[in-house]
Order: sequence, then C-alpha cells, then structure tokens
Amino acid sequence: MNYTAVELIERKRDGLELSSDQIRWLISAFTSGEVTDYQMAAMAMAVYLRGLDHQELATWTDAMLHSGETLDLSGLEGPKVDKHSTGGVGDKVTIPLLPMVRACGVLAPTLTGRGLGHTGGTRDKLEAIPGLSTSLSSEQFMEVLRSHGMVYGGQSENLAPADAKLYALRDATGTVPSLPLIASSIMSKKLAEDLDGLVLDVKTGAGAFMPDPARARELAATMVGLGKAHGVRTTAFLTTMESPLGRQVGNASEIKESIAVLRGEGPGDLWEVVLALGAEMLLLADRAPDEPRARSMLTEAVRSGEALAVFEKVVEAQGGDPRVVENPSILPLAPRRAEVVAPAPGWVTGCHALTVGVAATRLGAGRERKEDSIDPGVGVTILAKPGDRVERGQALAEVAYREQSRWQSVRGLLAGAWSIGDEPPEPVPLMGERIRSSEMD
Ligand code: URA
Repeated sequence: MNYTAVELIERKRDGLELSSDQIRWLISAFTSGEVTDYQMAAMAMAVYLRGLDHQELATWTDAMLHSGETLDLSGLEGPKVDKHSTGGVGDKVTIPLLPMVRACGVLAPTLTGRGLGHTGGTRDKLEAIPGLSTSLSSEQFMEVLRSHGMVYGGQSENLAPADAKLYALRDATGTVPSLPLIASSIMSKKLAEDLDGLVLDVKTGAGAFMPDPARARELAATMVGLGKAHGVRTTAFLTTMESPLGRQVGNASEIKESIAVLRGEGPGDLWEVVLALGAEMLLLADRAPDEPRARSMLTEAVRSGEALAVFEKVVEAQGGDPRVVENPSILPLAPRRAEVVAPAPGWVTGCHALTVGVAATRLGAGRERKEDSIDPGVGVTILAKPGDRVERGQALAEVAYREQSRWQSVRGLLAGAWSIGDEPPEPVPLMGERIRSSEMD
C-alpha cells in the first residue's frame, strides 16, 4: 500500500492513530529517501506532541529495527547479553563492565555510541586509547567476539539506519526528549543485536535526557515492554544522575578511571553501578543462581585480574596499544591545568552534572556540532563531591585544557556547578527502582 507523507503527518498532527501498514511504509520510505528529511522532521514533531500508543510504538520500533541489517549471533555458543545507558556525565560503566561479565562467562557484544549533547559517548572514550578502532567490519566484529567473548563495536550505519537518520533530525528540531522516540531509538538498535538479555540504565536527574523521575520510569517500563515483546529478557534500572558518576569527566581520563575499576580501585559510586548492572547481566544469562553470588563472581573476576586481562586482550585485538593497562600515562593529556576552588567553607551540597557535562563539552571533550572533532585529552577531575567538607580556596576540581580561550569561556560556568551550604546534604540513593521483564504482566 502506498501513502503520502503529508497525509500521515496530518493524521498524527490531528491526534489520529497510524496503522501498522502506514508506519511500516513511512519508516521504509524515509530510509530510502522517498520521504524527505523535512517531512520526517514534521512527523517527529507531531509524534513529540501527540505521542504513539502501545501498538504504534511496537510497530515503529520493529520497522526501525528492520530498516537495515541485523546481527546473527546464532553460531556462537552461550548467552549474549548487552547493556545500554540513556546517557550521563562521567558514565563510563560499559568499559569496565563488559570485561567483568565476560570473565564470568557471558558473551558481551556491544555497539557503542558517540557522545550526545552534554553526555559523553563510550565510543569516543574508547577511541582515546592510541590505535583502538571501534569501526569494525562485520567480520572483524565477529572475530573479536569469537576469540575474546566480548567486543567494543561501534554503531554501524547498516544497523537500524532509520534511527541514525531520524536521530540527526531530532537533534536539530527539538524533538529528542520524546518518550516514544527515545524508546524506539534505543530499542531498535539493541534488538538488532540478536541478544538473549539486555540491561538498561535509565538515568534520572539533572544530567539526564529525561530528568523527571516519573517520566524516566515510564521510559524504562516502555523499553522493558518492548524487549519482552521481542523475546529478549530485559531489565531496566533507574539510576540517579544529579552529579557526575565517578571523578573523571573526559575521554582519556575516563579510560584511566575504567582501568582503575578493573584493578578494584575505582570510586565507590561507579563501582556500585557497575556491580548492580553486572550482577543483573549474569542473572539474565543464567550464569549465577542469585544476586549475592553474581556480585561475588564479579568481584572475584576483578580480584583475580581476569577481567583486566580480558580488557587488555580486547584492546589489542581492536588495534589499541595494550600497554595502556600497565601505563595509562600513554593516554593523551591536554597540556594546561587550572583549578576551580571553593568560594567559602562548608559542605558540598551539589555538583550539577549537566553543568559539568556542558563545560567539558565546550572544553572539547564533546561535540557542539555533529562535524566537530573531540579532544581526548581535555577533562574535569572532580575533587569534591556532595557530602564532602571543603575549606575556602580548596580545589573542587582540576581541569585539563588545551586552548586558553575555551577555558576562559567556561570557567565561570564550571565554577557554578558546585553548591556549598552550612549543613551536609541528605544522601541521594544512586540506584533506584529495578524493572524486570520477567516480573511484568
Ligand atoms: N540515546 C539514543 O540512542 N536515542 C535517543 O533517542 C536518546 C538517547
């Protein structure tokens, strides 16, 4: 059946439902170029304003998932489980997590993404390792996965291509924070990976794309429902992103911090998220009988050095310099240093993740325009986090930067990220609700 883009845009604009046939035609015609970018941008705005009902969203996701190739991992023995984060500041969880779950017997194929807006991207961080490539052909991806049981792949243009095209339009038309568009975007890519299990880390709070906890919960439940409908055991965690995760925000510096986690030396908040997500991955893969056992298996994988050895081998297999494990100083580092200092004595009551993320992006750690290149050596080291006591003039952060003009333009903004009060703040729990597909009706 052939439709016209205009009639479908008008239907959605007027709050009418789109049939499955109409949605499949729309996504396929957009992928081929028959539906133009400006028409799809109008449709994205109509969806942003009117939403998609349950059936529409299921079809939309399925049509995006089948807009290109899908992976076929059926030839590999063992459970395949991946994780995905909706994006945060200092969120390097995937990097140490995958070698840890691999060391516990889970196959971990992942397709990492670039930074979006103020949030960093795992793919950009990994590429800070000298020589490492995430742009793998299908054969290279399968070879690394077969030999090492995990791979840090990169989002390929052939996988869910409708999402790549639509995401670029959404980014430029104010239609990113739409629940059905985010859910279908993430799940179409993940479902194209031929997984048995998927763990989703849905961020809420100041540094998240969906800051409102109720909306973030709805997003989490929607994605778990989509996973379940496609036969993938899916669990979502709601995690707080009020402050950056860990102490490093930047690309090379986040690799250093990831290696510290793999040595059992990472900061407590980062370790907490890695362990919770990792334990769930082991449970979804039936590699552990219960959560306490899963946690102790992961801890042992770090203690024994096995997880670090997996990381080293995968870095080498992907062309990276494996000496990074023993000698993180081979990572690029920007030449200049500056400090942000406390203007008064007191308790740190907040360190605003969004502000730190925007400042790091403007220093060059992220892209302000799609075509920008990033500077892997710039970044912010957080020295004082909520709950810390500081004295006047004490350093709250150390900044590594390259260009004086960039530092001058962000120093005021970055200094405003910290709030200092007379009383210690109430601790904010990092891990929120867990939503499991197996527990859904
Ligand atoms: N991440 C994605 O992949 N898609 C979105 O829409 C938002 C975050």
